[in-house]
Amino acid sequence: MSTTTTQSFTITPLRYALGAIISGIDMNRPLTHTQWKQLQAASNQYHVLIFQGQSLSDQSLFDFATYFGDVFIPPADVPVLASDAQGNVPSVVPVSNKQGGHTGNVELHPHIDHLWTPRPSKASFLYAVQVTQDGGQTTWYNLQKAWEALDTKTKKQIAALSLVTYNPFLNEPGEQRPLYRDNNIPTKGKGYEHPLVLTHPESGRSSLYLSADTEVEIPELDNEAGKALIERLRVHTFSSEFAYQHQWQVGDVVWWDNRSTAHARSPFPSEQIRDLRRVSLAGSRPV
Ligand code: OGA
Ligand code: MN
Repeated sequence: MSTTTTQSFTITPLRYALGAIISGIDMNRPLTHTQWKQLQAASNQYHVLIFQGQSLSDQSLFDFATYFGDVFIPPADVPVLASDAQGNVPSVVPVSNKQGGHTGNVELHPHIDHLWTPRPSKASFLYAVQVTQDGGQTTWYNLQKAWEALDTKTKKQIAALSLVTYNPFLNEPGEQRPLYRDNNIPTKGKGYEHPLVLTHPESGRSSLYLSADTEVEIPELDNEAGKALIERLRVHTFSSEFAYQHQWQVGDVVWWDNRSTAHARSPFPSEQIRDLRRVSLAGSRPV
């Protein structure tokens, strides 16, 4: 695939399963309607859009992101990253190992943001203020390609199944939970049920709508069959064949679609500072 110049900016697709670099957009400037429409189309086609050399305040990141929808607000009783004791979440979340930030320096396994809530966010934007010399790369996986690559028999078998995802933010710090529901271990609060195969509300394409290591359950199957199926789908999905790994530079903004991608992060040395800001947009109930 080669570079396309639209009326208003340039799209350079990455030579990976997803992602494109967008150049010619200064996020501090107002978008035109044409740019807005073309960016939405690019997001549906490439799933991960990379903007470079931006210089943004929290407010200007928020202002740009909300051209594409309202910010994500979870129900007060459903904790997510950065929830306070009342269940409120800031609009701009510091994803940072600095004081007051979230996620520290640890590895984050492949996940879809807010999948354990009743209306997971449709998209997220991460802006890099400070990056590390080592580690801290973010990897995105194309969940539409993961679906498309399944054999016909598996597609038929899973097309109408549901998936309950349990909330990892209800766990005690450091608590290990099973990766598939175990009836001998009590659940931590309510899980929310969504289709295992999501139809993208804008493009109509199907995705495998699954994270790598949160506790899940397929209500239509007995535990043994459900567990074996989920293990197989996870191995299939979280493979380099469907992935792009991003090496962050200061000034990068990455916009990803949570309905067609999952993402993971490599760990990094605790003595190095990584300071990113995230805005997540509200999504509709998955169907
Ligand atoms: C997130 C997240 C990954 C990273 O903010 O949702 O998963 O690379 N971050 O920090
Ligand atoms: Mn995330």
